[in-house]
Amino acid sequence: GLVSSTPMLMEARKNGYAVVAFNVHTIEMMQAVVDAAEELQAPLILQTTVGTVKHLGMDYITAAAKVAAAQASIPIALHLDHCQDFELIAQCMRSGYTSVMIDASMHPFAENVKRTRKVVELASALGVNVEAELGKVGGVEDDIVVDEADALLADPAECELFIELTGVSTLAPAIGTAHGIYKGEPNIDFTRIAEIAGKVEVPLVLHGGSGIPAAQVQRSVSLGMAKMNVATELKNAFSESIKQSFIDHPSELDPRKYMVPAKEAVKKLAMEKIQLCGSAGKA
Ligand code: 13P
Ligand code: ZN
Ligand code: NA
Repeated sequence: GLVSSTPMLMEARKNGYAVVAFNVHTIEMMQAVVDAAEELQAPLILQTTVGTVKHLGMDYITAAAKVAAAQASIPIALHLDHCQDFELIAQCMRSGYTSVMIDASMHPFAENVKRTRKVVELASALGVNVEAELGKVGGVEDDIVVDEADALLADPAECELFIELTGVSTLAPAIGTAHGIYKGEPNIDFTRIAEIAGKVEVPLVLHGGSGIPAAQVQRSVSLGMAKMNVATELKNAFSESIKQSFIDHPSELDPRKYMVPAKEAVKKLAMEKIQLCGSAGKA
């Protein structure tokens, strides 16, 4: 069955690699990343945003992810990404999500602590992993839009206090990455990652994984980032493939045809990200 992401992430943090968490929007995308992780024997986190929960329905998502976990030989966790709504988080846990993110990063520190604690209390009773965010990751992720000017880096001392006050098991500190594809290169504050990792033992999460140059991903991972989220690149690979299929074969209207190369494109990209983060062979 689906497992909590806590043990796989602690293992990753301890051993200096990162588990890749792939945002999937369709069942085919889910199957493709599962295939990739299975082939590379990598632990896997499937994740969906609130938008995808609305699009597919949480019970369809948990049912499909449970099938994947039952058939796979690798550990698979199902994570709810960037959720601001306590009720939805609670429902997803009941439906079978084994990991959730409470994103209260838009609130002042004390309010972020309060909202995160409430989720931690419920989650710990159910053995579900909780991720929280400090600072503000820039860019666009579904309905969450953060201007570059409003993006805010996490303060290392606050990170330490936040873990103490909330007991949260994974932390996403904003360190200069952004959601979506970068104009140019991200401006990652590596010193800050090292400072935060020096103060907290929990696995750290690198948001905005799409478009980060390989060497910068590896450096971030070596400093303590134990989970990397990839959404935009995966979605683009899937959609670009389908677009190309319709250009090459405009009269082919069978989804079972054009979905084949689309799944292959997602699988190939997922394998590259897994290799990059060093989680291949760690299942
Ligand atoms: P990207 O869209 O940049 O890959 O960001 C993914 C992410 O952080 C999801 O939470
Ligand atoms: Zn994110
Ligand atoms: Na990005």
